Amino acid sequence: MTTDRMPRDKGSEVHGIFEKIAGYYDRMNFVMTLGRHEKWCREVAARVAPAAGGQLLDLATGTGVIALEAARRYPASAVTGVDFSEEMLSRAMAKPGADAIRWQRADAACLPFENESFDGITEGYLLRNVEDLAGVLREQYRVLKPGGRIVILETCPPSGLLKPIMGWGVRVVVPLLGQLVARDRSSYTYLESSTLAFKSPQHIADMLSGLGFRDIGWRKKFFGTNVILWATKPK
Ligand SMILES: C[S@@+](CC[C@H](N)C(=O)[O-])C[C@H]1O[C@@H](n2cnc3c(N)ncnc32)[C@H](O)[C@@H]1O
Repeated sequence: MTTDRMPRDKGSEVHGIFEKIAGYYDRMNFVMTLGRHEKWCREVAARVAPAAGGQLLDLATGTGVIALEAARRYPASAVTGVDFSEEMLSRAMAKPGADAIRWQRADAACLPFENESFDGITEGYLLRNVEDLAGVLREQYRVLKPGGRIVILETCPPSGLLKPIMGWGVRVVVPLLGQLVARDRSSYTYLESSTLAFKSPQHIADMLSGLGFRDIGWRKKFFGTNVILWATKPK
């Protein structure tokens, strides 16, 4: 594993949470999404579809679910998994298939890569954790090659008719599960508040468009509580 520029400020708070929850992150994810998270990660990996032999970057790789799926799906591609949490990365590196991936500790706000290094970028649950959303997306645009695609898995603030019920579910159920499954209510209270306060898919799509991305689309999941977005950097 290589290490590069490390986080400060809001990053430090988020970093501390993920260092703390790394040991039960996969279990909590399974319970909170009723086992759907792995399926969404498979869809993210399928949608990024790099050219054969391409370079793939999985940002906020965490315990490596998307990176491992991408390495399995595209054996001719080189996959790099980046995260700023050492604890999360160490869980990823202990999983079967991890040797096929280059793991790197770095902050998504300041990526240690040359311009136009990657044919595709994936990320799961990064954006609502960052302070400078536009800056983090701009970094991704910078390191993506023209013609490359970015695929984002994120939580989604509830909207529409189901908003009151889903809002209640996120506010009450998520911290409760944190308490019951992980004995850690406070970290999952952060998940609840960051989800409810986060931007809509339309807002993220507008930001991507403003940065120059094209062919932007998204699909909501799990009663609108999660979303997969995709976009392409024009040639
Ligand atoms: C909720 S986990 C998601 C892990 C994985 N992508 C998944 O779908 O299961 C979010 C990850 O983002 C990482 N992260 C948050 N902010 C980051 C930043 N600025 N730079 C790098 N990693 C970051 C955290 O350390 C954590 O591992």
